[in-house]
Amino acid sequence: MNDKQHRIGALLHSILRYLERRRGEVQGVDLILDKLAVMDLRPEQMGDVLPQATRHDEVLIKAIAGIKAPELSHIASCLQAAKDDLVWREDNAQFYPPSVDLGEGYTKCNLHTMLIGPDACGYTHEDFSLGIFMLGPRTLYRDHNHDAPELYLNLSEKSGWRFGTHRWQDYHAGSLIWNRSGAPHATRVYDCPFISVFVWLENIKARCNLINFDDWAEIERHLARHEQ
Ligand SMILES: [Fe+2]
Repeated sequence: MNDKQHRIGALLHSILRYLERRRGEVQGVDLILDKLAVMDLRPEQMGDVLPQATRHDEVLIKAIAGIKAPELSHIASCLQAAKDDLVWREDNAQFYPPSVDLGEGYTKCNLHTMLIGPDACGYTHEDFSLGIFMLGPRTLYRDHNHDAPELYLNLSEKSGWRFGTHRWQDYHAGSLIWNRSGAPHATRVYDCPFISVFVWLENIKARCNLINFDDWAEIERHLARHEQ
């Protein structure tokens, strides 16, 4: 095991240990831990892929620096240490058909890396993915759904969410969001970048669908003017 693999493994295990401590709080955490328990995560099973840097490195540095909650400090330091070992990718083409309009904010700055999943930097899995997801400041990630049941572990201090209604709610660092298969959700990012752990439990090959809401343009205008 080389140093790079060691740092990626440490990041993954910091996340797994954290989720283990939250067992029982949200149904999804238990389902995820059960699936992880039967995976072969021995160091010798780990891949050795070439890192891929990102044009959003400055935003990513800010996002990691913005992880302040003491309970997340181990994940934060492992992520900081492994940042340049990871393969960073942007979403658009992979998860949505090319004709879909995801909005200017999302298109301008979204980023993820996979620690487990197809083409992951850590362990390959064809129907499960676990990684880190980031959005730039003042961004609306428009309402959408997907077949894959999804867990977010929010690392950034504050982010706005809504789940199939017009009502937004703020979530703090360490909050867990479990989106069942097909459940609509949208994310609103304030002045600091949004960063989270994400997990897709199964059905990960199915594409995402946008769910039209009539207030996207208004929300995006407010975000751009720093009004929310
Ligand atoms: Fe999602």
